[in-house]
Amino acid sequence: MTRRRTPKAVFITGASSGIGRALALEYARRGSAVAVTARREAELAELAKEIQAAGGRAVPYVLDVRDEAATKDVLSRADHEIGPLDMVVANAGVAAGGLAQNMAWPDVERVLDINTKGAICTILCALPVFLSHGHGHLVAVSSLAGRVGLPRSSVYSASKAAVSTFLQSLRVDLRSTRVSVTDIQAGFVNTPMGAGSRFPRPFEWSAERAATYMANRLERRPAVISFQMPHTAMSALARVLPRAVYDLVAPMLVK
Ligand SMILES: NC(=O)c1ccc[n+]([C@@H]2O[C@H](COP(=O)([O-])OP(=O)(O)OC[C@H]3O[C@@H](n4cnc5c(N)ncnc54)[C@H](OP(=O)(O)O)[C@@H]3O)[C@@H](O)[C@H]2O)c1
Repeated sequence: MTRRRTPKAVFITGASSGIGRALALEYARRGSAVAVTARREAELAELAKEIQAAGGRAVPYVLDVRDEAATKDVLSRADHEIGPLDMVVANAGVAAGGLAQNMAWPDVERVLDINTKGAICTILCALPVFLSHGHGHLVAVSSLAGRVGLPRSSVYSASKAAVSTFLQSLRVDLRSTRVSVTDIQAGFVNTPMGAGSRFPRPFEWSAERAATYMANRLERRPAVISFQMPHTAMSALARVLPRAVYDLVAPMLVK
């Protein structure tokens, strides 16, 4: 049986809003020290102040996940300042919607740079730190949108599918170590990113509910966490539908 454990020190990217912010607050409430990182300094400082005022421990670090050298440096500083770190959550991400034929190349690059390369960079920069500690938990927030190519989400779906595939391989590579890997395939969560979406958002959760669910499930270090249940079931069905049926039904998913 897998032991349940609350991490002592958690490093979270994209903690200045939405899911990352809620997850930082959730872990701080559970007694973890948290390193909160993102690009917006004022939002991070405010979050750290809120956590400290409630008696928790938080240190803000400005970080753009596209910068490998900075990611290594900030991870190493956080490991010394609040660590040893035992969980890293690659959560930073951006949305991209619209018909594939209308997407401008700079937007495509931005999504892949942040969602895919940024997440993989965070995980790969954290890996040597955990290997040197002899243990650790690597987590990334991908999306149910990565399980199937959703309409008007070609680049976003692809950016998240790549992260999920990367994590699956990584988990196998790390089998003989005590470093665990979890892929969080999130469904609809009410955040600034979610607010801009063209999808109807049935069963949408608040960021706080998503964070509590994630932290509870992460205790057992599963390979994959996905929510909400109806969307998980729908995406599993979509993967086995005949292609012609999927092509007919999928456009009905967007407003
Ligand atoms: N909301 C949903 O329905 C939903 C569903 C499935 C998956 N997700 C995934 O969940 C994650 C969090 O999204 P959210 O909904 O919480 O959105 P959000 O509120 O917009 O938060 C996104 C976070 O990512 C950070 N970020 C963006 N670009 C960055 C960069 N280059 N370097 C570092 N940080 C960066 C932002 O901070 P700064 O701007 O301050 O850098 C912000 O803190 C994303 O990976 C998203 O794809 C969300």
